[in-house]
Amino acid sequence: MIGGDGIGPEIVRQGCRVLEAAGERYGFDLDFTGFTLGADRYLETGELVTEDDLAELSKFKAIYFGAIGDERVKPGVLEKGILLALRFHFDQYVNLRPIKLLAGVPTPLANKGPAEIDFVVVRENTEDFYVGIGGRQGPGRSRADLEVLRSLYSVKFGLDIESDAEELAYQIGVVTREGSRRVMEYAFALAERRKRKLASVDKANVLSDVYGLWREVFAEVAAAHPSVATEYTFVDAITMWFVKNPEWFDVVVTPNMFGDIITDLGAMIQGGLGLAPGGNINPDGTSMFEPIHGSAPKYRGKNVANPIATVWAGALLLDSLGEHEAADGVVRAIERTIVDGVVTRDMGGASSTSGVGDHLVQLVGRRG
Ligand code: IPM
Ligand code: MG
Repeated sequence: MIGGDGIGPEIVRQGCRVLEAAGERYGFDLDFTGFTLGADRYLETGELVTEDDLAELSKFKAIYFGAIGDERVKPGVLEKGILLALRFHFDQYVNLRPIKLLAGVPTPLANKGPAEIDFVVVRENTEDFYVGIGGRQGPGRSRADLEVLRSLYSVKFGLDIESDAEELAYQIGVVTREGSRRVMEYAFALAERRKRKLASVDKANVLSDVYGLWREVFAEVAAAHPSVATEYTFVDAITMWFVKNPEWFDVVVTPNMFGDIITDLGAMIQGGLGLAPGGNINPDGTSMFEPIHGSAPKYRGKNVANPIATVWAGALLLDSLGEHEAADGVVRAIERTIVDGVVTRDMGGASSTSGVGDHLVQLVGRRG
């Protein structure tokens, strides 16, 4: 359990209570161990994630993660140094983000309800423009910096950047056949358990090298899963269809950066960031579950933050541990608490973070 920064610790606390209640109700034990990664430790010791942290965390099947980000630290340091570091270290190559409108939740989309908004985005989580390969030159930076940067990577990219520009920056997106194949296999398997529809996202018409390969691999994997109806969508077009015809979608598989962008849109159509959960999954290793929203530092410690996205992420966690019935029970309890109106201010209610937690604990524990 990593509470992290801002509202992270208080929402994860409620999540743990609900999961414990689910354990009692459905008959299993959960052991939580807390880790104090985040801005406070970074500011005190300069440490982000240490080798010891990684060794300790690797002993667990699942990490329950709150949020990271703090106004005292330059943007990017904690996000890259903690959240992305964990996703990459544990090779959590699937970023699973259900976009499901629950009963009783208003959506900004006119004439759409829970029957129309129910799909899952499977975001590739280890490649693309997130690999951290880039460089800058210009005031304060020299070409030598670029050389150092390049030499840090085992793959040689054969860069030969010649430019008269005074200031220049570049960032490289990397897509591999195996990296694409494994996340697509996961998406097809998921589609086979759902409505057997899978849309692939890319921008192969412009970024034709990286997403050309992505498309090629998708065609190959699709050929091995003939029962799933497939389609290609360009990322710009899919943002339009998410708004106009969300009912078209069942499972959507997407490269990393486009997945980041379209899942914020997805979160809004499912009722807001306060409701959107995510799982960073390595099917054979340590997975990590988190709300997709950030740490909202200005609400830290005020007991007003909405814990639902985190509790729902906890349901994904239970699912990954094989506790499917309990996972369903937690999602049903979330639906019920919304219908009961026991929700926080962002959803038009008057409940506190822990008040929503109390209600969820009670609902999850109820039989029948
Ligand atoms: C997300 C976030 C992260 C991402 C940031 C905080 C690194 O936006 O989980 O969607 O870009 O993946
Ligand atoms: Mg994001």
